Amino acid sequence: MDLRIDRPTPARVYDYFLGGKDNYASDRQAAEQITQALGNGAAEGARENRLFLRRVVAWLARAGIDQFIDIGAGLPTQDNTHQVAQRFNPDARVVYVDNDRCNSGCVHGLDDVAHANEQVSALS
Ligand SMILES: C[S@@+](CC[C@H](N)C(=O)[O-])C[C@H]1O[C@@H](n2cnc3c(N)ncnc32)[C@H](O)[C@@H]1O
Repeated sequence: MDLRIDRPTPARVYDYFLGGKDNYASDRQAAEQITQALGNGAAEGARENRLFLRRVVAWLARAGIDQFIDIGAGLPTQDNTHQVAQRFNPDARVVYVDNDRCNSGCVHGLDDVAHANEQVSALS
């Protein structure tokens, strides 16, 4: 996949809202335009969404679920699905799916996470 940094992508705009580093000027400009149009609710929504993801994965892992498919995973950030699930069950397996895996030009993309953890796969 060609890395286009002159056009914003949803994954990188979301990363910016979460305070991540895998975003470019075009993503930050788009995020600022969204904020101007919608107010701070956009960034707050991203953070709340991420907290929900952590809560629900923790709840499922505690309930004994050990296989997860995370569709529209976004770029790796803190407390990714596999990290939360494996905190409760080190054998939990996770498949990440996103049409923007950011395989080049990102500090780390979903493929890097998959390479570092044999129970994790990344697809697009
Ligand atoms: C809001 S962001 C990530 C949200 C993340 N799951 C979370 O809870 O923090 C939505 C993600 O969906 C991805 N996405 C959008 N359309 C998609 C599609 N058709 N197939 C796969 N991924 C898609 C975007 O690239 C983006 O990374």
